Amino acid sequence: MQQAIAILDSGVGGLTVVKEVMRQLPQEKIIYFGDTARAPYGPRTPEEVKLFTYQIVRYLMQFNPKMICIACNTATAVALEDIRSMVNIPVVGVIFPGVRAAIKTTSSGAVGVIGTEGTIRSGAYVRALKEISPQTEVYSLACPSFVPLVEKGLFQGRHTQDEVARVLRPFKDRPMDCLILGCTHYPFLADEIADFMGPSVALISSAEETAREISALLSHRNQLSRQGQEPIHQFFCSGDPKLFQQITQAWLKEQIRVTPVVWQIAQFS
Ligand code: DGL
Repeated sequence: MQQAIAILDSGVGGLTVVKEVMRQLPQEKIIYFGDTARAPYGPRTPEEVKLFTYQIVRYLMQFNPKMICIACNTATAVALEDIRSMVNIPVVGVIFPGVRAAIKTTSSGAVGVIGTEGTIRSGAYVRALKEISPQTEVYSLACPSFVPLVEKGLFQGRHTQDEVARVLRPFKDRPMDCLILGCTHYPFLADEIADFMGPSVALISSAEETAREISALLSHRNQLSRQGQEPIHQFFCSGDPKLFQQITQAWLKEQIRVTPVVWQIAQFS
């Protein structure tokens, strides 16, 4: 049986990574888990986010994947290292890939980062940016209202535009030339964010670079799929499967089937 790449997020945000993996590695089978019943993760404590991430990884390991991608910045910030020591397959996060892309893009050395409260509070982006390029000037901002908009499927429209403008206003006059979308949900709002920030600010989504890292790792391990026929992907979510299916199909532009997962109390311990 073809071994899959397992990709997880608190909700639909990780689909931005899924779309890039499908584009760059069309032969690879994907198993996706969106923990929509417990999203957003941003306002939760690091302990809760760690626990939820363990639970999802434990769930996904039953499918014997060849790799795990934590396509959630909030979970990457607090749980990546622990998950790496918990499983014996490669685990990829989304923070370093986004940081590398930003360093490649910026010419002024002034970089903006937007993310959930959890990600911004963790300081993970500032640390990663300074580690690669110590002289980088970093401006960070938490945008707690963005994930709920995306989880409701409100990617465009007047209300979303107004909210994006309201939240990003403090960033408008900063001298940055690129802005990291430090939450995998934010590429869903990329048009509105780009409109507000203007053409002098390049938006960086970690999706492309993360898919490249997955590809390089699989190739290095000689684990790229050589399957001839199209893979059949699997999607799981813990919340409303209809809404999840609707958003997923609109984003990936293909029909999918969703298997709902109901967390049992025992799985919380
Ligand atoms: N998509 C996630 C991230 O990249 C999680 C957002 C949330 O659930 O708050 O951080």
